[in-house]
Amino acid sequence: MARYQLLLLAGDGIGPEVMTEVKRLLAFYAANGVADFDIEEDLVGGAAYDAHQMAITDATMAKAHAADAVIFGAVGGPKWDKVPFESRPEAGLLRLRKELGLFANIRPAIVYPALADASSLKREAVEGLDIVILRELTGGVYFGEPKTITDLGNGQKRAVDTQVYDTYEIERIARVGFELARRRRNKLTSMEKRNVMKTGVLWHQIVEELHKREYKDVALEHMLADAGGMQLVRWPKQFDVIVTDNLFGDMLSDVAAMLTGSLGMLPSASLGEIDPRTKRRKAMYEPVHGSASDIAGKGMANPIAMLASFGMALRYSFNMAKSADQLDAAIAATLAKGLRTADIKSEGAKVVSTAEMGAAIVGQLQQLAA
Ligand code: IPM
Ligand code: MG
Repeated sequence: MARYQLLLLAGDGIGPEVMTEVKRLLAFYAANGVADFDIEEDLVGGAAYDAHQMAITDATMAKAHAADAVIFGAVGGPKWDKVPFESRPEAGLLRLRKELGLFANIRPAIVYPALADASSLKREAVEGLDIVILRELTGGVYFGEPKTITDLGNGQKRAVDTQVYDTYEIERIARVGFELARRRRNKLTSMEKRNVMKTGVLWHQIVEELHKREYKDVALEHMLADAGGMQLVRWPKQFDVIVTDNLFGDMLSDVAAMLTGSLGMLPSASLGEIDPRTKRRKAMYEPVHGSASDIAGKGMANPIAMLASFGMALRYSFNMAKSADQLDAAIAATLAKGLRTADIKSEGAKVVSTAEMGAAIVGQLQQLAA
């Protein structure tokens, strides 16, 4: 049986609750001889700040570097609103992304048949939806320097964030986009704002050149990111893979999440470059939703985005596509049976807790595996 090293970073808010359901899944895999995972757990975000006055320690970073995959819950919450900017909970997540080199963030938005009515969009607009937002994750305005607030001395302050992209950063994310599209419906939509931003001009040019050079077989389309946002809520099924920068990707993936009915449904995989020597790549798997402090500790959180994120780990880090398919099928079947967490509740459905949803999915998996 394959043995893999996992680092579980549950974080804050509902993070620990949804991570408990991952542990339930891991126990199932171990008990059924599917795979044996070596599990380490550590602190990140506000939890790490409370213990160490920083959002992630060097020791935890070293564990993340050593792991085959990092499984991440969520960070942040009002409790840490006043901590220094450098040690705010989110800084832990950003350090992981940057130092592990996780430039490619794959955020699939899939509408499960049972949930077509949970979306705020009309059923016909979202039924059968299956698209991917591919977000650049280690560049752009999230990390660009300077990033400062200066006192101008005249009662005014000036805040600066810097949007910066180099050729190689655009090219490598575009390449992931073309490759993903090839294995799907063969269409890539690149979104930027070249009508306003220099980074958009370069982004458009690099994507265009790469397409001409290596991916002529993929249908490529360009959209200004604002128009893209509009199209995403007008008729999302026109898209297959959307590739975009860090900030636009952050926003567009929240929009895409709501197409599926709830932020609690969207998983994600953050991948680094493939090491030519070991053929391995660093990876982190995290739900798109945040820490949702308002419902934390109540057993109400939807564990599906977290479990589906682990499904992406099976697919992208452990070469266990069959197990990943089974997990997706178990989630779909559980929803089809009418079980819903509060965020996706509907007429006639049974509202269940985080633990009940997790247990039902693992139970379904047991049936599928048998
Ligand atoms: C996300 C989140 C993060 C981001 C926050 C928590 C820093 O919104 O993963 O989408 O902005 O990238
Ligand atoms: Mg976000």
